[in-house]
Amino acid sequence: DQVNHEEVHSLLVEVALAAGDMIVAARPHIAAVGTKQNSADLVTETDKAVEQYVIAILKEKYPGFDFLGEETYTTGKKLTDKPTFICDPIDGTVNFVHTFPNLCISLALAIHKKPVVGVVYNPYTTHLYSAIRGQGSFLTMPVRSKSTAPIETCRFRLPHNPNPPPLEGLDKSLVAVEWGSHRSGRNWDVKYETFAKLAGSREQGGKMVHSLRSMGSAALNFCAVAAGQIDVYWEGGCWAWDVAAGWLILTEAGGIVADANPGNWSPTVDGRRYMAVRAAPAGQREIVEEFWSVIPQGGYDYSA
Ligand code: IPD
Repeated sequence: DQVNHEEVHSLLVEVALAAGDMIVAARPHIAAVGTKQNSADLVTETDKAVEQYVIAILKEKYPGFDFLGEETYTTGKKLTDKPTFICDPIDGTVNFVHTFPNLCISLALAIHKKPVVGVVYNPYTTHLYSAIRGQGSFLTMPVRSKSTAPIETCRFRLPHNPNPPPLEGLDKSLVAVEWGSHRSGRNWDVKYETFAKLAGSREQGGKMVHSLRSMGSAALNFCAVAAGQIDVYWEGGCWAWDVAAGWLILTEAGGIVADANPGNWSPTVDGRRYMAVRAAPAGQREIVEEFWSVIPQGGYDYSA
């Protein structure tokens, strides 16, 4: 493609930092929070204001590009082959509302439906994850120590451990899952049956993973897998804006993404189902297959 990825990356970092200031300055008030499909599906005025800000800047600099954002999405809009900015103004809105400091703005540029630039920024921790296709993934963060007076901004290549250990099975893994906002129907059954099997003891047919984590932000989960802090992350129900940036950050860090349902090794960022696995010299495909064996017959269905 003709697009200058470095230039887009610089702009997305700039936009993410400014949006982060808006998020930190906002004081969400529980009574003023709106709901979408049910009482667990939240949206705030800040989500909308941040997305409007992002649109204004990106449209001015790249008027020919498409835009897909959580708050301006209309049913049926599809990701196309055109260069498209993909934006989740606050990934982790439930955390935002409760002031639980695990949320981010997630920004990506996709071309031919594949992310080529990704930026994920948590304004509370000021951790900034980013990637350009073919150039690896990085975490930029302030570091405070006796020798770096007072604070130094450091840039780390991901994963943190350049020689990550092999993956040795689910019973040696820390696994991220999310509750999401849909709490009924078939996809909910698939979710909680899988959670129970992952966590349960071997005697009862479970895998007994080290533990399950549900930190409330799909994009930051991808980044945690990219960093090597989480071994596997599995979810259904997310949208392209939740995952596009994190997906690139993970794959540029040597991780892989397979389908959340058994059998598909090449899911797409708009497919609404995925399993993300950290970089490892061995055991990536084996752990996906082991995980697939846990999922109830038929798996997720997000075709509707
Ligand atoms: C949500 C978060 C959450 C995931 C949901 C997403 P939002 O995004 O990523 O972890 O479980 O499926 O919708 O609504 O806070 O942008």
